[in-house]
Amino acid sequence: MKKLAFFLILYSNFTFTQSAKLDKQEVKVLAQIWGKLGLTEKRRWDFEEDPCSGQGEWQFSVRCDCSFNKNSTCRVTAIYIISENVSTALPVEFTKLLKLEVLDVGQNYLKGTIPSEWATMRLITLTLEDNRLSGPFPTTLTSITSLQYLNIRGNDFSGLIPEHISKLNNLERLYSIFTYNIYVYAFNNPTGKNNRSKLYTFLKFCIK
Ligand SMILES: *[C@@H]1O[C@H](CO)[C@@H](O)[C@H](O)[C@H]1NC(C)=O
Ligand SMILES: *[C@@H]1O[C@H](CO)[C@@H](O)[C@H](O)[C@H]1NC(C)=O
Ligand SMILES: *[C@@H]1O[C@H](CO)[C@@H](O)[C@H](O)[C@H]1NC(C)=O
Repeated sequence: MKKLAFFLILYSNFTFTQSAKLDKQEVKVLAQIWGKLGLTEKRRWDFEEDPCSGQGEWQFSVRCDCSFNKNSTCRVTAIYIISENVSTALPVEFTKLLKLEVLDVGQNYLKGTIPSEWATMRLITLTLEDNRLSGPFPTTLTSITSLQYLNIRGNDFSGLIPEHISKLNNLERLYSIFTYNIYVYAFNNPTGKNNRSKLYTFLKFCIK
């Protein structure tokens, strides 16, 4: 009897997680983004499968929060498109994913700059490392004040970092999130904590 009850609990949990699905509008937005990045041609992502199901290729590239609508609706919180040979511009459509907090599109061949529409995003982590983004420092980034971690290294940006980079109040916390890589270098020293001038140095370092 105990065994049966146990099984039933497992089973109901299983069916429960299966029932939470990505918001229909966000499914459309994902399809737009994947299309613009040229990823749908690769056919590794199955749009018949729910992107929040943790199945197939989705498990590596999309994270969701499924607590909406009494745990029945998911929203995208993180996207990882790393080393996929993407060589397009950065799609504006990322802004339509209102719960997106983590975006990592590192190690591709992305070109152009950051779309000005991105200013409305509330990202916490943004990794654009090792792409071919270019132009002056993308001032749009200074509007994403929620940013705690920003990595734009290994691109073709040029020129100086604008003064108003100091609008990124939260970025100073980054040194404590990444405790064992090179960023610590810029921050982790006796005067490094919450020091705008250190932040400035760090970002200069980011721009190659
Ligand atoms: C949603 O799921 C969480 C975690 O499993 C649970 O604590 C919460 O009570 C659920 N909320 C509703 C409305 O079902
Ligand atoms: C990217 O391109 C390289 C060289 O053409 C190829 O070897 C690699 O498999 C490609 N990676 C993906 C994810 O398409
Ligand atoms: C911030 O860092 C700069 C450069 O290292 C240093 O000169 C300055 O004294 C520091 N300021 C504070 C408040 O720690």
